[in-house]
Amino acid sequence: IPVDPFDLVIFGATGDLARRKIIPGLFHRFVVGQMQPAARIIGAARSETTQEAFVQLIRDSLEEFAPKAAEQGPEIAAFLETLRYVRVDAVGDAGWRELGQHLRPDALRAFYLSVSPTLFGAIADNLNAHGLATPESRIVVEKPFGHDLASARALNADLRRGFDEGQIYRIDHYLGKETVQNLMVLRFANSLWEPLWNSTHIDHVQITVAESLGVEGRGEYYDRSGAMRDMVQNHLMQLLCLTAMEPPSRFTPDAVRDEKVKVIEALDPVEPSHIVRGQYRAGNGEGGYRDHANDPQTLTESFVAMKVNIGNWRWAGTPFYLRTGKKLRARTSEIAIMFRDPPHMIFPKMEGRRGNALIIRLQPDEGITLRTTIKEPGPGGMRMAEVSLDMTFAEALGADAEAQDAYERLVMDVIRGDQTLFMRGDEVEAAWAWVDPIIRRWEEDRQAPAPYDPGSSGPEDALMLLHRDGRRWR
Ligand code: BG6
Repeated sequence: IPVDPFDLVIFGATGDLARRKIIPGLFHRFVVGQMQPAARIIGAARSETTQEAFVQLIRDSLEEFAPKAAEQGPEIAAFLETLRYVRVDAVGDAGWRELGQHLRPDALRAFYLSVSPTLFGAIADNLNAHGLATPESRIVVEKPFGHDLASARALNADLRRGFDEGQIYRIDHYLGKETVQNLMVLRFANSLWEPLWNSTHIDHVQITVAESLGVEGRGEYYDRSGAMRDMVQNHLMQLLCLTAMEPPSRFTPDAVRDEKVKVIEALDPVEPSHIVRGQYRAGNGEGGYRDHANDPQTLTESFVAMKVNIGNWRWAGTPFYLRTGKKLRARTSEIAIMFRDPPHMIFPKMEGRRGNALIIRLQPDEGITLRTTIKEPGPGGMRMAEVSLDMTFAEALGADAEAQDAYERLVMDVIRGDQTLFMRGDEVEAAWAWVDPIIRRWEEDRQAPAPYDPGSSGPEDALMLLHRDGRRWR
């Protein structure tokens, strides 16, 4: 369904995110007819670029980052027609009047701040000071949304000076992933799982977001964040919320977000012995984390594993184990729901039995696996075996879930005015309020993270975190 024509202003339009994700995403939506030729994309940036040079930059970006779609010659030309470029000084007065001249009174306005968070306040203020924001306008911001609770509060205050919460779209691109949305459908459109979705039947949950790449090229940003700020506070927290939340009464933005906030607020503080920090060392002929961070002494973690307890009726007694890291064996993200054993077993004990599990694979190879126990065929008695009922979305639906990038969905949601897949201000603050004391403790302790080999599954201690509970990572 086509969305209404819009004027989308992208601040930082010549930057990496705009060129890699936002504009290619819009182009895909254009090719399928969701974005109409009457829409406008107005690039705003500091650089002294001409309209022609900007169009050329975007043409090159599409060839690089949307190569399949970019083969479609006529569409490219029509898409490039929607582009405008304005030089705007985010913190000064220059360019704002000209920007206003590109905005049409009757089109929906969205302002996408693909810039450093230090500029959010200035841009939001300038939009208002120059009368460019209407009550229907939307403002979109990217992570990092704060460095801690205090800075997140300050950013919220900056944005709210000129915009209502209902106009603010805070992106966590994990929520734009097909399989992450599928988690909600899996839980709330099936009657099968919900009766089992609690501590009576679920022994524990494992959430893994493993990456095989390191921090090459982003060392400076990353070294100020570490895995906790870069991944846990946002992406893993979102996965945890969607897995653990109560069924909302309606599928509306606030009903869903209310339930997520309740999960975050129910998180117990994490005991120091329930967290493992790691840092990859050099290996396989490549530099280690410290080389990329350009600081041989850095204490920043590139891996974190933790045991989290949710203090509510549904989950008390069922820990959630989270782990994420760079330079690990493979790029795999999944949520594994590990069920309890039957209360009474009448068959001979099975060596190495792992038990029932529901595994939701987020990437790659998106799909669902249900591990069940069956009888091993043959006359050898009632011997048990474990098999997987396996489904990949690509096979089942003929669709490649990753083919549609998270940004495509999210940008269209901004235009449609649907905030369900965006973080609300209180949600972000609640997540920081939980993360802050953990990071503060690390900063006080000044202990070095445990080293791990590139291509491994993280430090030994992360295995111990489960072993001592009589469990193991998948
Ligand atoms: C980003 C982090 O938000 O998410 C990166 O800053 C990380 O460090 C990335 O690599 C992971 O996203 P994806 O979509 O590749 O899983």
